[in-house]
Amino acid sequence: MNNQLTEMFGIEYPIFAFSHCRDVVAAVTNAGGMGVLGALAFSPEELEMELTWIDEHVNGKPYGVDVVMPVKTVDRDRGIDDVSDIGAELRKHISQDHWDYVDKILTDHGVDLEASGKELESGAGIGAGVLGWTAATGSPQIDIALSHPIALLASALGPPPKAAIDQAHAQGVKVAALIGRVEQAVRDVQLGVDIIIAQGYEAGGHTGEVSTMVLVPDVVDAIAPVPVLAAGGVGTGRQMAAGMALGAAGVWTGSIWLTVAENGSSTTVTEKLLAATSTDTVRSRAYTGKPARQLRTAWTDAWEAPESPGTLPMPLQFILNSYAANKMGSKPPRELVGMPVGQIVSRMNQVRSSKAVIQEMVEEYVDTTQRLSADLEV
Ligand SMILES: Cc1cc2nc3c(=O)[nH]c(=O)nc-3n(C[C@H](O)[C@H](O)[C@H](O)COP(=O)(O)O)c2cc1C
Repeated sequence: MNNQLTEMFGIEYPIFAFSHCRDVVAAVTNAGGMGVLGALAFSPEELEMELTWIDEHVNGKPYGVDVVMPVKTVDRDRGIDDVSDIGAELRKHISQDHWDYVDKILTDHGVDLEASGKELESGAGIGAGVLGWTAATGSPQIDIALSHPIALLASALGPPPKAAIDQAHAQGVKVAALIGRVEQAVRDVQLGVDIIIAQGYEAGGHTGEVSTMVLVPDVVDAIAPVPVLAAGGVGTGRQMAAGMALGAAGVWTGSIWLTVAENGSSTTVTEKLLAATSTDTVRSRAYTGKPARQLRTAWTDAWEAPESPGTLPMPLQFILNSYAANKMGSKPPRELVGMPVGQIVSRMNQVRSSKAVIQEMVEEYVDTTQRLSADLEV
């Protein structure tokens, strides 16, 4: 294929793949698309290792890194920025009612709180349940990302800080930002973002309220000629063709990579994803504190129940989640096992290689565009 984005990055297909798994990132990049590693769950040391590994496996082909830089979180609101023990600082803002409610959910599902799991760690990292979405833990990820030969720096829940955008540009790295509303796209372009990822309601992970079908053309028109990637509900060639027909220059995909062979998810999650249909997801604050589409589980239901104390703002809700995950250990009750995934989960019915996903998507895209063109012939 040949368009604005394939030329910009020297890639074969304008298919961008978000994944937390380095193997998927490298496989997509090597198959002619652009793999983008989600940095959120990695400590700075781990991220350094992951990116070094990718550098060694893509032979100079372009890949990207995605960070999450929420404009609004409890740490920013309250000026908590001491990274040495941000986990403990943030936990002070979680009420006893919330800890008790998590314990109740776990015991209701047979988890023995005394026998299983370990307590949350102190510090700032994944063990403390903080991840990269505080300002203090997200910034080092950007520095590490920019110390590798990446082609794209993407960010969700807000644009990267202006200084990071400028540094990226100085190094020839393009900057992309995920948005769910037209105003956010306009704001990010004004800040210097090069590519807007217009992500609709049906997407996995944090998502807004406007569907992909409506959002993409509105964003394309609002920020032309800045290129737009259509995201949310894209996992096949027909969906890719739909995104391009809406005016996007490429597609940004996430969920579809959760069930590829290179992704090392647990068997229970993979089984649930392969079996799920498009009505088995829910947009809920139960995972992170911000609305995120995920598998509907006993955990998401519990936070909707009348006795729920209500979810907490980001990143406190995820600290509760991490506590629960630690308590459940390696054999969590099946009904509590979930993860972010979009409505496209209905199409994730078998484990394929990343290369096969790209090839099938491109073949179906070509068939679709030919079928549509043939309709015009007289
Ligand atoms: C498991 C999972 C985790 C995600 N985490 C992030 C993230 O950390 N940063 C981000 O920018 N987007 C994240 N997303 C959203 C994806 O980047 C992408 O926009 C979305 O998956 C596209 O919609 P789709 O799921 O229908 O393909 C996540 C999506 C999933 C499924």
